Amino acid sequence: MQKKAIITSALPYSNGEIHLGHVASTYLPADVTTRFLKQNGVESYYICASDDFGTPILIQSEKEGKTPEEYVAYWNKRDYDDFSALNIAFDFFYKTSSPENIEFVQYVFKKLQEAGHIYESEIVQFYCNNDKKFLPDRYVIGTCPYCKAEEQYSDLCEKCGRVPEEIGNPHCSLCGQPPVKEKTTHYFFKLKNFSEQLSEYLDNAPYLQKDVKKYVQNWIKSGLIDWDITRDISWGVPIPGSSGQVFYGWFDNHLAYISSTLKFLNNKGIDGKEFWNSADIYHFIGKDIVYHHFLFLPAMRLGIGQEYKLPDYIPTRGHLTLQAKKISKSRNWYIGLKEFLNHYPADYLRFYLISINPYSQDDINFDWDAFETKINSELIGNLGNFVNRALGFTVKSFDGKIPNSDEPDQLDKDAQDKIENFSKDVGTLMEQNHLDRALKKILEFSAHFNQYFQHKEPWKKEKGTNTCVFLSVNAVKSLSIALYPFIPESAQKIWSQLGMSGNVSEQRWQAISDITITSEHKLGEPSPLFAKVESSDIKTHKEKLGKQS
Ligand code: 2FM
Ligand code: ZN
Repeated sequence: MQKKAIITSALPYSNGEIHLGHVASTYLPADVTTRFLKQNGVESYYICASDDFGTPILIQSEKEGKTPEEYVAYWNKRDYDDFSALNIAFDFFYKTSSPENIEFVQYVFKKLQEAGHIYESEIVQFYCNNDKKFLPDRYVIGTCPYCKAEEQYSDLCEKCGRVPEEIGNPHCSLCGQPPVKEKTTHYFFKLKNFSEQLSEYLDNAPYLQKDVKKYVQNWIKSGLIDWDITRDISWGVPIPGSSGQVFYGWFDNHLAYISSTLKFLNNKGIDGKEFWNSADIYHFIGKDIVYHHFLFLPAMRLGIGQEYKLPDYIPTRGHLTLQAKKISKSRNWYIGLKEFLNHYPADYLRFYLISINPYSQDDINFDWDAFETKINSELIGNLGNFVNRALGFTVKSFDGKIPNSDEPDQLDKDAQDKIENFSKDVGTLMEQNHLDRALKKILEFSAHFNQYFQHKEPWKKEKGTNTCVFLSVNAVKSLSIALYPFIPESAQKIWSQLGMSGNVSEQRWQAISDITITSEHKLGEPSPLFAKVESSDIKTHKEKLGKQS
């Protein structure tokens, strides 16, 4: 039976532009993985949506004199367009405010309620007399009760990653005043009930990162807290039977992974539920939302009797810093994706970000000088140079027709072995989510062939050098297919320069190791793949960033 996969990445809030930090940890790794799975014949779909609800969005829309619907519609389209410019190829990009998601969230709530996982409780909620607003979540800041970090949000401590039960020294994030307390009745999800099942799920999920599992297990051991799922605001999924209250955004947003998938697949005439339950489920996230994806999300799926299967993979990566400083939109220390792509091709950013991004929670750093070096020395100096050299030489010396190989020597045999092992060497790392290491292997392969070409000196036209040309052109073909998940536009250019028919996206991963370009094949037109990154431009970008913050 054909293997199946659903890939999602953390849903972006419809509340501001996508910047480099967003794409590094989630959208890009998820895109590379989806492309790879598709090349491997896995029926895979990359599903995403904008995260439309929540207090910050409501307040911002009011500030801009728009309805929240208008406001999120703008960002939904803008985000999608920006992602597309980076060739993030969602199969479907929807929204948490869709009628399908609203219906699904209410359905899940009722099922949880019937199963006894929901209770009502009167609580005291912060209220700002100055701003005349209830202050849920991010609107109260204070001291984390666990790690004592100051200036943390009441719904998430960014220092220790936990959700505080009650924040210390609370103050309103809008005006800084201490809030008063008002009574209101909220629904709670009994997260506590799931401690055992969650722990069992983590123990038995072989593909979840070990280190993440370890600290999530520690959270479980030190006691989970029930989860307030009601918000006293007007913008959100309405709570059935309640007047004016809505669900907390983290109750509804991850359900859009499922509801959007169902909508997309059912429209294609596929039974979405059946597909979901027989697919590998991947949720790509950044490390700040581990709690939500390793605890809330599986607990809710468990709570409705696993009607939809739990994630197999939750690839979690660290944050991106910019010039070694924390990215901050409010301090204007960020680079918008759209802005970046006005200056450099999508493949430059994809190449750079993947190559510095390990499969771990370590933070990574965007550095303009390192970007320049990486592009000029690795993408251009190694890859671009080899492709151009092998194809250019064949066109010049053989009129673009691949020569017959002659008796191979040891170097040729080694080169052939490299090609034959290449799909497995890189593929294994890709399957393990080590995208950076896979890309490094590809560069090593290209460097090897560069040296091989240099060593064999085919321009001397001595006996045996035709094999080098023959194998080098085949190595370029291997590179084109292997590079496709990482730098799809350049991979397609290489494919066309090779004079191959069809698109590189249609090639199977295994074809990387097949020597299929035979003698007499006529190459296309070689031309340089990449333009150098100029130091003077890098200087300008650095100065601009310095001034903007
Ligand atoms: O942290 C965020 O940016 C959230 N919008 C992510 C949501 S992912 C979810 F839907 F699970
Ligand atoms: Zn206030």
